[in-house]
Amino acid sequence: MPRRIAWLNEKGGSGKSTSALNLAANLASRFGKKILLVDADHQANTTIVLSRGRPLEVTLTHVMLGKAPIEQAIVPTRYHNLDLVPADASLSDVNVALADSGSPLGLGREWRLKRTLEKIDEAYDFVILDTGPQRTVLNLNVLNYAHEVFVPVDPGYWSILGVRHLEDLIAQVRQHMDHKALRIGGVLLTKMQYTNVADEVEKQLRHYLGNRVFHTTIPLNVKVEEAHSRGLAVLDYAPDSAGAKAYLAFTKEVLANGQA
Ligand SMILES: Nc1ncnc2c1ncn2[C@@H]1O[C@H](COP(=O)(O)OP(=O)(O)OP(=O)(O)O)[C@@H](O)[C@H]1O
Ligand SMILES: [Mg+2]
Repeated sequence: MPRRIAWLNEKGGSGKSTSALNLAANLASRFGKKILLVDADHQANTTIVLSRGRPLEVTLTHVMLGKAPIEQAIVPTRYHNLDLVPADASLSDVNVALADSGSPLGLGREWRLKRTLEKIDEAYDFVILDTGPQRTVLNLNVLNYAHEVFVPVDPGYWSILGVRHLEDLIAQVRQHMDHKALRIGGVLLTKMQYTNVADEVEKQLRHYLGNRVFHTTIPLNVKVEEAHSRGLAVLDYAPDSAGAKAYLAFTKEVLANGQA
């Protein structure tokens, strides 16, 4: 079975898409792992970086609404071993379409993604899911499929509160959706700067969550952002940059923590 990793933080701009993309690309290009990256955010940031403007015929929207099988949505990327299930803006309609629990589409609405991905995920070592910052039926679908939740934290005064909210959400999914395999796999400090606030947040998080905070931290580094416009992970765009070294160290840490 692949490792099933969902990047989640309801705070926007915390580094979900950047971290999902860099982890996926590094695992594929440097460690030969077979990766499926699922873009479950209607902002489609991951899709835009990896598809580089190519038109998309079938997206996660079609799959979620039962209009296309998952096999038709999977596209190869410039990275050997890295496949993508793309998103576009229409994905926000999925939440509306699934909202009516009495309609045929609404039946089993929280399990649609899990049922679909489990048909094909044996072909992969990792399935990595990028999510949007809202609490939606789509994100519940992601949590029902995932086993590990990775939480990127951009340190600020409200970060710890955000992590506590996520812990509550995960506890509810474990209990009410009977999904006991779900857990916080780790918290990743991103966009780190040498400020007193960042230092304080890091200390508090490590005190509160112990070894559930990844040892590696990701610095704020302009090369990380520039790499997006080239359609690349930072390790391929600027291999000597601090951002590239950090995402490589993080990738090794993820591999060391699991069995895929
Ligand atoms: N380490 C970094 N150094 C510099 N810029 C970064 C870094 N990580 C992320 N960014 C930039 O910060 C912004 C937010 O990052 P990202 O899009 O990954 O967050 P997100 O959690 O996916 O946001 P959303 O909630 O909107 O989906 C982006 O412009 C990204 O390029
Ligand atoms: Mg994002």
